[in-house]
Amino acid sequence: MQKISTDKKVTTLTDLPGVGPATAEKLIGSGYKSLEAIAIATPTELAAATGISEKAAQKIIIAARNALQIGFKTADIIYEQRLKVNRITTGSRNLDRILGGGVETQSITEVFGEFGSGKTQLAHQLSVNVQLPIEAGGLNGKALYVDCEGTFRPERIVSMAKALGLDSKETLKNIIFARAYNSDHQMLIIEQAKDIIETENVKLVVVDSVTGHFRAEYPGRESLAERQQKLNRHLHALARLADIFNLAVFITNQVMSRPDAFFGDPTQAVGGHVLFHVPGARIYLRKGKGGTRIARLVDSPYLPQAEAIFIIKEEGVRDPE
Ligand code: GTP
Ligand code: MG
Repeated sequence: MQKISTDKKVTTLTDLPGVGPATAEKLIGSGYKSLEAIAIATPTELAAATGISEKAAQKIIIAARNALQIGFKTADIIYEQRLKVNRITTGSRNLDRILGGGVETQSITEVFGEFGSGKTQLAHQLSVNVQLPIEAGGLNGKALYVDCEGTFRPERIVSMAKALGLDSKETLKNIIFARAYNSDHQMLIIEQAKDIIETENVKLVVVDSVTGHFRAEYPGRESLAERQQKLNRHLHALARLADIFNLAVFITNQVMSRPDAFFGDPTQAVGGHVLFHVPGARIYLRKGKGGTRIARLVDSPYLPQAEAIFIIKEEGVRDPE
C-alpha cells in the first residue's frame, strides 16, 4: 500500500529513491524534468525512456506521487486542492453562471452538440480568455490548442482579442497550436505536452474534437471496445494534466441529432456518450431561435442541471442583447 507521506521530504529528482545522478540525467534528458512530469508517467513509458526496469520505474513514480500528495490523501488536502480551482470566463455571463463561474481547472469540460452549434467558437473564445488577468475572468496563462479537424482560425482569435482590447499579435503568440492528424498523433501530443505546459504556463488545453479521429478510425460495432479503450487512455491523460498542473481541459464532441429518433433525447444516440468515466462538466449545445445558442449543463459532479442562452457574434461569445 502507498504511504500517505514520505518520511524524507522529496523536492527534487535525486531525492527520489533509486534515482542517482545518472538516472536523474537520463530522466531530464528524456523530458522528465520535474516531479510533476514523473508523477503522470506510466512505468512502461519511464522504463523505455531511461532503461531502468519497470519495477524500479514504478517505485520512482509512486515516490513522486507521494511527494506531490497524489494517491491516498486525507480530505483536508482535497479541500485545500479544491480551493485552488480557478475558472475561465466563457464570455457569456449566462453560460458562466450555470458552470459555477466559468470553465474549471482541475477537470475536463466536455461540450457536445451537432455541427455549427458553437463548440469550436467556444474553444477559440476560451483560448483568448484564459490569457486575461484573473480579475477579468482569465488565468494569466497560455492555451494549448490541439486541432483534430483543421478548423482553427487565427483570424477569429484576432477578432476576439481586439474586442477585448488585447494585442492581437500577443494573443496569437500565447496560443500554442498543434494539428493532430490521427488518433495516435492526438494521443502523442497530449502525452508529450507536460514540458510545454510547465515552461509556457499553459492554463488551458483544448482538444477539438476529441472523438473525431477515433470514430473515423474505429468504425462499426466490432471495433467499439478497442476505440473505447484508447479513448479512455487519452481522457485519463488529459485528466492527469488538469489535476497536476491545475489547468482547464476543454474538449468537444460532435453528436449528430437523429431525425429518426422519436423517443427520448435524439442526441443520446450516435456514439456520443463515450466520455462517461472521466469526471467533469458536460454541456449539451444546440441552436436556438434567431441565431441563439442554448447550453444545457447535463452532468456535473456538483452543479445542478441548468440551461443558458448565449450568442456568437463577430466579437465572440456573448450574452444576447
Ligand atoms: P462542428 O465542428 O461542425 O461540429 O461545429 P461546431 O459546433 O464546432 O460549430 P462552430 O463553433 O464552428 O460554429 C459555427 C457557427 O458559429 C457559425 O455557423 C456561425 O453561426 C457562428 N460564427 C462563427 N464565426 C462567426 C463570426 O465571425 N460572426 C458571427 N456572427 N458568427 C460566427
Ligand atoms: Mg467545430
